[in-house]
Amino acid sequence: MKRNKTWKVVLLITAGCFIALQFIRPRITNPPVTGEPDVPPEVSSVLRKACYDCHSNETHLAWFDQVSPAIWLVAGHITEGRQVLNFSNWDSLSKDQQKGKLFESLNQMTFNAMPLSQYTALHPGARLTTEDITVLKNYLATQLLPVKPDSSKTAAANRQYDAWKPDARVVPVQPVPNGIGYMPDYKNWEAISSTQRLDNGTMRVITGNDIAVKAIREHTTNPWPDGTVFAKIAWDELADTAGNIAPGEFKQVEFMIKDSHKYAATKGWGWARWKGTDLKPYGKNAMFTMECVNCHQPMRNNDFVFTTPTQHTAASLPDTPFLKLSEWKVIASGVQKDLQTMSTLYGNERAVASARKGAASYPADALLTLVTWKQQADDHWFGAMIPGRVASVEQVQFQPGNAAPLYKKYTGNNLVADKNSEEEAQRRIAYITRQRASVMP
Ligand code: HEC
Ligand code: HEC
Repeated sequence: MKRNKTWKVVLLITAGCFIALQFIRPRITNPPVTGEPDVPPEVSSVLRKACYDCHSNETHLAWFDQVSPAIWLVAGHITEGRQVLNFSNWDSLSKDQQKGKLFESLNQMTFNAMPLSQYTALHPGARLTTEDITVLKNYLATQLLPVKPDSSKTAAANRQYDAWKPDARVVPVQPVPNGIGYMPDYKNWEAISSTQRLDNGTMRVITGNDIAVKAIREHTTNPWPDGTVFAKIAWDELADTAGNIAPGEFKQVEFMIKDSHKYAATKGWGWARWKGTDLKPYGKNAMFTMECVNCHQPMRNNDFVFTTPTQHTAASLPDTPFLKLSEWKVIASGVQKDLQTMSTLYGNERAVASARKGAASYPADALLTLVTWKQQADDHWFGAMIPGRVASVEQVQFQPGNAAPLYKKYTGNNLVADKNSEEEAQRRIAYITRQRASVMP
């Protein structure tokens, strides 16, 4: 009897609390729609179905969403979701930002990061099918713009290059709002990969510090060890009339610093970005890192890293007197349209110092290595092209006095030494030597 009574009281109190809770609730309103994405109707219907509940001012709540305490979780998602991406205030973004958000949306969908799984568990109608994702992908494929020669971009790049004086920095670079300081040595780290971004017309090189390089050699990259640092440098693309691309104006450099304890709140990485050759710290306040974390979220099973290191050419090259492993500093990168290849030009200390000063010719003992890869689509980001298998490795070594530089070429997967004619060698030496150092402040 007594036990029964206690139970009844507990039940009554619980029910009472539940009812009382219904009166304490966040209010979810639907503010006016000021502008929507100008996309084909089939794209719009995918976004409406799977995203609009959290990323628009047209939220439709199911009855079970409106029950407290569920409503608190729902309201949190909606507030945060609208803050980072709102399809109902599309007009508040620039054209480039709009495009960027759609490419980011596709990536979130492809890797099952959006819509949130907690939400689709209860709203099966919002689940995406492969066809839904294809609809957005096909639309975005039409938004990839071929790069054309542009004299104003060339002029801007030339101006920037002429004004760029490496290591002549007087004004110290300010840290970003989360306190991370600038790391000027990024340009001397080993190049891990490169990308050509057809979605936003930039090309990038990713470099890694010693710890990153060691982790690659030892295959301990998921998770990356504490102390790993990546830098990603972005330039405008400069196309010639044949469609070949070289780095233009320097845009920004950004970093990811691995420290699973110190940066636990931002997925184990410290994030930082500096823009322009005056290296302006990016971010209004320390919360800028949310943007980085959110867009890297689809790579959550890859320790939040997009880049796959290129086939490690330095380690796999044949043993010749030319090659020294520690001498793989980046001078420039490029894309060769007809051959569907992309390349990175590396130099030893002497070569890099001379190239970055814009010297007219290379000194004796300067060593240049041009690695060329077949270009392939990046599985991690629609619209990006990355290096695939190695097509060739070419080296130019400058000699003392008036002696002609030596040229060697290795081709194919096994990098077999190539027998080239003297004429071919001269042509390649000229091509490789002509490449201008990319601006890296
Ligand atoms: C249940 C609510 C919800 C739904 C539905 C949802 N999202 Fe999100 N979305 C969020 C929240 C909350 C965030 C903030 C970051 C986080 O929690 O991951 C976010 C972040 C994002 C971001 C990162 C934006 C930035 O710049 O930081 C993108 C892009 C995104 N969502 C796209 C989508 C797309 C596309 C869909 C539909 C396919 C979708 N989301 C569906 C709640 C939602
Ligand atoms: C809109 C999506 C997006 C946002 C926002 C973003 N990244 Fe990335 N990030 C990428 C992609 C995609 C790559 C792969 C390389 C490439 O294609 O450019 C990448 C690569 C990187 C890399 C090289 C290591 C890796 O993961 O491949 C660093 C470092 C980096 N990002 C830093 C940042 C920082 C710092 C921020 C915030 C200030 C940031 N990113 C914001 C998409 C994004």
